[in-house]
Amino acid sequence: MKLKEKNVLITGGASGIGRIMARMAMQKGAKNVAIWDISEKNINDTLSEHQSYGNIKAYKVDVSSSQMVGDTYRQVVSDFGQVDIVIQCAGIVTSNNTFNNNTIDEIDRTMTINAIAPMYVGLCALKDMVERDNGQLVTITSAAGMLSMPKMSIYSASKWCAIGWSDSVRVELQRMKSHVRITTVAPYFINTGMFDGVRSKVFPILNPEKTAAKIIRAIERNKTFAGIPFSFHFIRLMEGLLPQKIFDWFYGDVFGIYDVMDNFKGRCVPAQGSVPGQGEK
Ligand SMILES: NC(=O)c1ccc[n+]([C@@H]2O[C@H](COP(=O)([O-])OP(=O)(O)OC[C@H]3O[C@@H](n4cnc5c(N)ncnc54)[C@H](O)[C@@H]3O)[C@@H](O)[C@H]2O)c1
Repeated sequence: MKLKEKNVLITGGASGIGRIMARMAMQKGAKNVAIWDISEKNINDTLSEHQSYGNIKAYKVDVSSSQMVGDTYRQVVSDFGQVDIVIQCAGIVTSNNTFNNNTIDEIDRTMTINAIAPMYVGLCALKDMVERDNGQLVTITSAAGMLSMPKMSIYSASKWCAIGWSDSVRVELQRMKSHVRITTVAPYFINTGMFDGVRSKVFPILNPEKTAAKIIRAIERNKTFAGIPFSFHFIRLMEGLLPQKIFDWFYGDVFGIYDVMDNFKGRCVPAQGSVPGQGEK
């Protein structure tokens, strides 16, 4: 769907690729851009950086609260009339621990923000969109949702979940002969700060501007799935064809993908909590 004259809502729109796409949407002539974010500082920075590009309004929202998502979605509809395109970027990573050293808090927050919150937002948006038979719901997942990724197993699980949900909804809408579009995006690491320190042996870390531009292009071309880089579209084919040991050797040793998180020192949302049965959740 073209962005011109559309009302666009971007979750996690005050940082990284969400912030860039907010600017790009206005440069493409979007009528209004609503950004949702939990970080007040990032919201203020984004507003002062972006205000000259067009109509942008920010809402402080914790997408892990279904109540706040519902209330704020209704507020955006009341402010703008309707939401034409939703781009779901809000996401977190909590550490590069192996799973035996993860905590309940890391499981809960990562799964809620990365996997469940897109469904909360999707439910609000799709009810409206299906009724109008128009709109586009875009969910930024990750290449980690197509590959088994050591030292980020919860993040990886959350993104597998988001891909499975988003693409299942696409099939539902297709079978309903709906004109509402679903776009699932699965990028490799992007240089936004979220994953600072990751070292990628073969595949280059992606440039945020170029990645945001590719996602905008995918939205405008109604792509159902956009793996970035394109070669990542073949991961599942390779996994299906190759014996497990060969696949692990190829992706783990040759491409070095299984070691990327070793030096991670990115924007990790600090861990709290404990292991089951050992203290508070
Ligand atoms: N950076 C990467 O390497 C990379 C790679 C693949 C996929 N992704 C995914 O792309 C999306 C954007 O990544 P980014 O690199 O721009 O990250 P970022 O950290 O720059 O931006 C994420 C935004 O989400 C917001 N957010 C976090 N928790 C929230 C909550 N509970 N409610 C509302 N907002 C919340 C943050 O405040 C932040 O502004 C994420 O979903 C991420 O998982 C990132």
